[in-house]
Amino acid sequence: MIEGKKTTTESTKARFNRIAPIYDGMLLIGESRFKPWRKKLLREARGRILEIGIGTGQNVLFYPPGSEVTGLDIAYGMLARARVKAERRGFPVRLAVGDVLRLPFFDDSFDTVVSTFVFCSVPDPVGGLRELRRVCKPDGRILLLEHVRIDRPVIGPLMDLLNHLTVRVAGEYINRRAVEDIGRADLTIDEIEDLGPMGIVKMMILKKPGNTEITGRN
Ligand SMILES: C[S@@+](CC[C@H](N)C(=O)[O-])C[C@H]1O[C@@H](n2cnc3c(N)ncnc32)[C@H](O)[C@@H]1O
Repeated sequence: MIEGKKTTTESTKARFNRIAPIYDGMLLIGESRFKPWRKKLLREARGRILEIGIGTGQNVLFYPPGSEVTGLDIAYGMLARARVKAERRGFPVRLAVGDVLRLPFFDDSFDTVVSTFVFCSVPDPVGGLRELRRVCKPDGRILLLEHVRIDRPVIGPLMDLLNHLTVRVAGEYINRRAVEDIGRADLTIDEIEDLGPMGIVKMMILKKPGNTEITGRN
């Protein structure tokens, strides 16, 4: 079991290292749609920020100026590109290679934890979300953009079917039930917004249980 997960994580790492040079090109069309979503989500980031699966640093452009950001990714090739983007923007980001399933940070370390389009390639999403909860401060927030299973007759089961193929071919889970996973990881959804066709993407702001801070758009 553990060996199986490790192998999947290793193949994810190898795949993203392989596609790192062309990743931004692959995003070119989608990014015109994603950009406003990224902007809106990252307006909510504050304090000490951790971004997991930072990739080539697509979000670096949208953090509020003066933010203190640590970016983590399993693939060094992706991080190398994030560094170039951050330097071009003149935006200091601390970067680290690591696995979301074993975050190399102490409990309650960050005010904001960010993840965009990462959990579709994580073999154990609930385990990953639990790690996000662990490193987030009790009054902190977790900001997510994730594509999910469309919960409708025909389309949902079709996505379940296609998922076998996308996992095999591209290591990509297209039928994540993010809302259920979040509950299983003992996190609370404070805000949720459906985006894209049929709400295939969800923007979510999560809190740890017991956090009664009021979320306000700034
Ligand atoms: C689809 S890309 C998204 C990149 C970026 N967040 C974005 O919005 O463009 C997924 C990223 O998650 C990283 N990743 C996948 N599994 C991971 C894991 N277990 N731990 C840390 N990073 C991981 C990949 O290397 C890749 O950079």
